[in-house]
Amino acid sequence: MTHTIAVLPGDGIGPEIVEQAQRVLSALQLNLKFETAPVGGAAYAAHGHPLPPATLELAQRANAILFGAVGDFQYDKLERELRPEQAILGLRKALGLFANLRPALLYPELANASSLKPEVVAGLDIVIVRELTGDIYFGSPRGVRSAPDGKFAGEREGFDTMRYAESEVRRIAHIGFETARKRQRKLCSVDKANVLETSQFWRDIVIDVARDYPDVELSHMYVDNAAMQLVRAPRQFDVIVTGNLFGDILSDEAAMLTGSIGMLPSASLNEQRQGLYEPSHGSAPDIAGQDLANPLATILSAAMLLRYSLDLAEPADRIEAAVRQVLADGLRTPDIHEEGTVKVGTQAMGDAVLKALNRS
Ligand code: IPM
Ligand code: MG
Repeated sequence: MTHTIAVLPGDGIGPEIVEQAQRVLSALQLNLKFETAPVGGAAYAAHGHPLPPATLELAQRANAILFGAVGDFQYDKLERELRPEQAILGLRKALGLFANLRPALLYPELANASSLKPEVVAGLDIVIVRELTGDIYFGSPRGVRSAPDGKFAGEREGFDTMRYAESEVRRIAHIGFETARKRQRKLCSVDKANVLETSQFWRDIVIDVARDYPDVELSHMYVDNAAMQLVRAPRQFDVIVTGNLFGDILSDEAAMLTGSIGMLPSASLNEQRQGLYEPSHGSAPDIAGQDLANPLATILSAAMLLRYSLDLAEPADRIEAAVRQVLADGLRTPDIHEEGTVKVGTQAMGDAVLKALNRS
């Protein structure tokens, strides 16, 4: 069976890191058919829209999407609908990619890269399960209007709507519990139930879903405390499940604990297990095209793609082992380089992973 992989390189360092991940996937000889399409600012420049119809059609038809990154300063002044970020939001919505898995794993070789003390982060291994198609990101109404009543009546106001339907909370809670089941069986649900109705509702539903998972230890934490605990004692967490907005913020924080956002992959899945796989970092336009970017997060995203969308666990393991091997061999891109290790560029890092794969 041939699997179609939509390759959407995007902007900034996107093309160069995706190229390395695609080389790694090709080397495994798995009957993958790659089809490439523009997305983000690059698509706007070529076709006048960050998510052109042909790109969306390819994404919908593919078994999985290998995504680089979108965004570049030059597009920041466009109206919101045409900004590069709309491509990723549009894909999430159109494909129903509701479950976002963001591992924050500290590789022992990179313990010194963290801005926290090595003894605080040693052994860190967290997965953040972020709901990705609901919440204030997509709630309506939203906009800018003349305030209808109250103290600010008549004045202009900006507003958004935070909301979650019960079925949306249930399905992401199930993903959280199932993810915890495959790990240390600890799930922490993060909300702001002391203030927000949406959050109290979220918490009630998560508690209800927990009855199906008596083997998983469930806890709850307010988001402000979770932000603090992540830097105070991050190893207390195994799996965190949370809504779209809180997950956006906490996953960046968790990523930085590892000191190397250039190392972290992510998966966004729908109910059919179609998925979009992208590095957790952004498009870094300032270093684009200079052979400086770290391709490992994208290569590890390709491993997640094989594992979650194509059910190919064995080659996924091989990719992850090859990445560990190049780190053990002392190879580092500039973002993770330290004294006593060998600084390499994007291309050379890709070469090294390929070599390690062939040895395995
Ligand atoms: C992320 C990003 C996106 C988000 C932006 C680019 C819309 O920050 O994937 O975390 O907020 O979800
Ligand atoms: Mg974010």
